[in-house]
Amino acid sequence: MSHCKICTSPTNDIITFGGMPVANGFINVVGQDEFVFDLTVSFCTHCFMVQLKETVPPEKMFNDHYHFMSSTSQGMAVHFEGNAKEIIDRLAGRPDSFVVELGCNDGPMLKHIAAKGIRHLGVEPSGNVADLAQKNNVRVLKEFFNQKTAAQIVQKDGQADVICGSNVFCHIEDIHSVFTGISVLLKEDGYVYFEDPYLMDIVEQSSFDQIYDEHVFYYSGLSVRELAKRHQLELVDMVHQDVHGGSMRYYLKKGAGYTVHPRVEEFIAREKSLKLDQPAGYASFKDHVNQICHQLRHTLEEIKHKGSRIVGYGATSKSTTLLNYAKIGPALVDYISDNTPYKINKFTPGMHIPIRSYETFLEDQPAYTLLLAWNHRREILEKEKEYRRKGGKFITFFPAVTIE
Ligand code: TMP
Ligand code: ZN
Repeated sequence: MSHCKICTSPTNDIITFGGMPVANGFINVVGQDEFVFDLTVSFCTHCFMVQLKETVPPEKMFNDHYHFMSSTSQGMAVHFEGNAKEIIDRLAGRPDSFVVELGCNDGPMLKHIAAKGIRHLGVEPSGNVADLAQKNNVRVLKEFFNQKTAAQIVQKDGQADVICGSNVFCHIEDIHSVFTGISVLLKEDGYVYFEDPYLMDIVEQSSFDQIYDEHVFYYSGLSVRELAKRHQLELVDMVHQDVHGGSMRYYLKKGAGYTVHPRVEEFIAREKSLKLDQPAGYASFKDHVNQICHQLRHTLEEIKHKGSRIVGYGATSKSTTLLNYAKIGPALVDYISDNTPYKINKFTPGMHIPIRSYETFLEDQPAYTLLLAWNHRREILEKEKEYRRKGGKFITFFPAVTIE
């Protein structure tokens, strides 16, 4: 029996993937020791939070080499610029406004705020990415965000008009400490917004590879509304985002003087129609996941049987769950091409597929390519027009296996 990380009620298991290495545990040599944990997702019927049952100690996930950099994809760069524009528009008429971004990474959003001369601060505990943000003229505090850091910020800079975070709230197990910090830092009429992969998209597409050690929470309108209330905040708007395979941006406000957009009730009504507020809504998820894995393995085996070669595209964090659960290794996928220098010539966690440079892929022209970075599908299909014109085919797998 495990207990909810939000409200301590007992939780129900949705799916168990068994022993799983950490998603970013790329190894230098096959045979090297790998940390394995039990990857299980559970659901709380009391506060509706979907969450990891067992989490991994931070020192096992993040080592000196952890270099996730959000600026590697062109599509995401455009998305973050749009986020900055929205904030700038909302701040119109508020003199001397102050924007705080939690987990600002290398600054793809805040650099646009900085360029407008708006007071801002990125809170980023990963030293190496924080240094890159500073190179982008972003002001950074290299700390974890909580009540103590919030008080320090207030003392130095005053309270914030906007507190935001992209793909960071879902990573933080002690999310209550973040919300306690927000209560201290946020102005009475300020707003919080954060965006993360959306539970309803994950369930509808069976995109189970979003589930890995670093994603502790799988948010929905149902669960965010409950979590916000615990911290005297109200969920006032929800806007769907076409990034990371379907994300949701949640807007929260403090105290009185807010209006709740009708979209909130609409999204929550859709979540309830899928029964995401009860165990029944998750009952078929496991079967769908197993069907996709079976179908994908079968497709790859058939291609190999006919004598064609398959490579992977994008050694993503999320592909660790897919490859290990579906048992896809180097016998099926020769290598995975990736444009992140640090990953090249390493091996994927658990299944040990070698990682090669993007140039290798371009020179190679393999017959089939498993699109592991499926969340960047549009951008990659556009970039790889020549590969497809020469007869190359991409394999995708959510919500079903497709060759295009
Ligand atoms: P992400 O989905 O977690 O952002 O990770 C994307 C990974 O895929 C990252 O290692 C970079 C790689 N990638 C490529 O190799 N080529 C591309 O065109 C894109 C968009 C990503
Ligand atoms: Zn709960």
